[in-house]
Amino acid sequence: MNAERMEKAFLILSGGLLGAFLLALLFATVGHNIQLPGKAGTIIPSEVRQTPPFDNPGLREIEPGRYEAVILGIAWIFQPDEIRIPAGSEVTFIMTSTDVIHGFNIEGTIVNAMLIPGQITRVTHTFRTPGEHLIICHEYCGIQHHTMYGKVIVE
Ligand code: CUA
Repeated sequence: MNAERMEKAFLILSGGLLGAFLLALLFATVGHNIQLPGKAGTIIPSEVRQTPPFDNPGLREIEPGRYEAVILGIAWIFQPDEIRIPAGSEVTFIMTSTDVIHGFNIEGTIVNAMLIPGQITRVTHTFRTPGEHLIICHEYCGIQHHTMYGKVIVE
């Protein structure tokens, strides 16, 4: 193969790869409903506990079957660390960190977010089947990082 044909082949190959990546992205966003966390707002980290809704963390039913869970990431706990909901519930998690960067991953779901000081994280997920999901902090946040976990109980 001469250099020109080789170059052409590589151009086609890289173009094809770009197309494949685009298709994979579309498949993930449309097909699997994978969403990037939206721009949910900012907050003054030192005033988190005085700023609504974080002055009152917990689970609230906003309409039948729809919930809001306000959760704080604090080294090294989630507050609250247990969410209990009936199967079929749609839960919007509204979260932030009071100190350092924490992770928020709900095992067995697509919920995988970061809690960043100064930023509000908002993720919505529908829990269809009964069961227990472990919530883990998957960002190293200090000496007790491995003990930072919670639970979603779907009844
Ligand atoms: Cu919080 Cu690791």
